Amino acid sequence: MTAPLPDPMLPIRYRIQRVHREIPDTFTLELEPEEGVAISQFATGQFNMLYVFGVGEIPISISGDPAKRKPLVHTTRAVGTISKAMRDLKPNDVIGIRGPFGSSWPIKQAEGKDVVIAAGGIGLAPLRSVMYHILSNREKYGKAVLLYGARSPADILYRRELEHWRAQFDLEVLVTVDRATDSWRGSVGVVTRLIRRASFDPNNTIAMVCGPEIMMRFTAAELEKRGVALENIYVSMERNMKCAIGMCGHCQYGPNFVCKDGPVFQYSQIQGLLSKREV
Ligand SMILES: Cc1cc2nc3c(=O)[nH]c(=O)nc-3n(C[C@H](O)[C@H](O)[C@H](O)COP(=O)(O)OP(=O)(O)OC[C@H]3O[C@@H](n4cnc5c(N)ncnc54)[C@H](O)[C@@H]3O)c2cc1C
Ligand code: FES
Repeated sequence: MTAPLPDPMLPIRYRIQRVHREIPDTFTLELEPEEGVAISQFATGQFNMLYVFGVGEIPISISGDPAKRKPLVHTTRAVGTISKAMRDLKPNDVIGIRGPFGSSWPIKQAEGKDVVIAAGGIGLAPLRSVMYHILSNREKYGKAVLLYGARSPADILYRRELEHWRAQFDLEVLVTVDRATDSWRGSVGVVTRLIRRASFDPNNTIAMVCGPEIMMRFTAAELEKRGVALENIYVSMERNMKCAIGMCGHCQYGPNFVCKDGPVFQYSQIQGLLSKREV
């Protein structure tokens, strides 16, 4: 029997089963609920609040396969106090989880259409669940294109998975880096440059974009130039959060709360706000 979920403000204890060191500053945690009570199934693009006991709580997207309830998977880049404390956790340590929260990527609307997924840096983490979904439901989608940009070859996230996906005949995977090394023979330059090379029908495409805000703006502009309507472009926004349930106002973004109206927004809905700094 499924136990009723506790208060959305009360973290559930999850135990770390595995830690994958992905690239120097980024790691993936695989988590299992400690006492049988688990958060509900998640939709692609949703996030959880991860609580490092005694340090604090941060929003992190769920980057695992939405068809699998266990383990719960999160990939985090260590940038500050809480994410660095999280990086120091080891298998068998306990972490608090609240969620899942927020809106999801439009995987249902994308059925029967071509799909362009464009990610920059850690922005691939919130989109990996979409990749898993498309690959498990390949017949429901038209062309599938993944465009990924990293700072350097050493910063390429999920490298083995990208190589595996690139080897598939029904998927186009293009990767670029900002700064090449001597041994890099791939593309150099920003991710937006890959859009011209990708093969998709702009009149029948849904695009999902995640990365730094400037990358999302330029990517949307380039997609629009190729003929993709702005309402068919979706982006995932990051804002500082506290409650994650629409109560505290910390994540307010114009008339929207990123925690409950987002993080995934139709680009046309938030285009005018994208260059504004958070409050
Ligand atoms: C919906 C959502 C999903 C996210 N998913 C992921 C994910 O899958 N993986 C991941 O690595 N990160 C993700 N983030 C960003 C992550 O929450 C921040 O990196 C984290 O809160 C930083 O906390 P800190 O205490 O480690 O850093 P701090 O010490 O608070 O700050 C370090 C630096 O990060 C900036 N920062 C702090 N909090 C945020 C924030 N919430 N958003 C953007 N910048 C911030 C600060 O301005 C500062 O420059 C997500 C954020 C949101 C809102
Ligand atoms: S985080 Fe409190 S309203 Fe969004």
